[in-house]
Amino acid sequence: MSGLGERIARQIAASGPLTVAQFMALALFDPKEGYYRQAQAVGRSGDFVTAPEVSQVFGELLGIWCIEQWQRLGEPQPFKLIELGPGRGTLMADALRAIALRPALREAVEVHLVEVNETLRQQQRQALHNVPVVWHESLEEVPPGPFELLANEFFDALPIRQFERAPDGWRERLVALDESGALAFTLSGPVPAALIPQESRAAPTASVLEIATGGDALLSRLAERVRAGPGAALIVDYGYVQPPLRGTLQALRRHERVDPLSEPGATDLSALVDFSALAAAARRVGAAVEGPITQAELLTSLGAADRFAALRQANPGKAAALDAAQHRLISSDQMGDLFQAMAVLPPGA
Ligand SMILES: C[S@@+](CC[C@H](N)C(=O)[O-])C[C@H]1O[C@@H](n2cnc3c(N)ncnc32)[C@H](O)[C@@H]1O
Repeated sequence: MSGLGERIARQIAASGPLTVAQFMALALFDPKEGYYRQAQAVGRSGDFVTAPEVSQVFGELLGIWCIEQWQRLGEPQPFKLIELGPGRGTLMADALRAIALRPALREAVEVHLVEVNETLRQQQRQALHNVPVVWHESLEEVPPGPFELLANEFFDALPIRQFERAPDGWRERLVALDESGALAFTLSGPVPAALIPQESRAAPTASVLEIATGGDALLSRLAERVRAGPGAALIVDYGYVQPPLRGTLQALRRHERVDPLSEPGATDLSALVDFSALAAAARRVGAAVEGPITQAELLTSLGAADRFAALRQANPGKAAALDAAQHRLISSDQMGDLFQAMAVLPPGA
């Protein structure tokens, strides 16, 4: 086991099993050895490839979305463009290139990046070397005021709790130690029904329900900012509207799926995002929600076909690579339907 794995095992031996959320929080965000504190993570040389790394068109079209929303917000100046979890900085660099189509917006924009990973911050610095950027550890650190926010594959990295329907009621999945001292999943005793949303309480035996308490709370705070800012936020992630009633926690290392408990701190852990819970959290504080719609619908409505056609015309030698990228981002058997996009907007927008 990794050093972090051994520390987690010692903690469990001393104080008992952890919830899946507590385990994820340690594995991903432990200040010294958490995966998102240091890992290279994103890109072909990392553990997974994200949409902005597939093609510049993804970030450019999100930049077009920013122009449209800025106009809807009444063209405020100055104006913050915030990104949660900017990875290698590729999305922001591509979005800013598109935003430059509206010089007044480009001039008004201050870039704020929320990132906890020092290795990725360095890469963001390189990708955005000609742009003044302010980095933050959390959204709360970003000063108030009119803003737009982009978050691609951010919410899937936030810790979730898992509940399993046993024959005698709901129990919580926990991370404990097996006889050999290795990390292993186990179940708690029965949990109060109030922890399980009403609509899922009668799910069949062996169903697994996931609840992202931290993600939902972050979305409420974001939605409050959207009302006050005013602001507009676009969240793109792989997720669902109807709970799939199965566990979706997964671990990736070098593009391969591995056991989520095998190497805490060395693997990327993520879970599908519950968009209905996020939408409910936004509506509870009075913000408006659009979507979710599929990534295919979002990119197509923002002009993906025209942009890819223009790039093919300008780079005939790259036509095959551009076809492949378009297919990967938009086809339903690729990222097109698996990824969803949801906007949080001021009331009445
Ligand atoms: C899956 S990557 C996505 C990167 C990028 N958005 C992209 O599409 O390529 C998740 C990003 O969020 C950052 N991150 C994850 N959890 C975070 C947290 N709680 N606070 C700040 N940044 C976080 C990671 O370091 C990484 O940059």
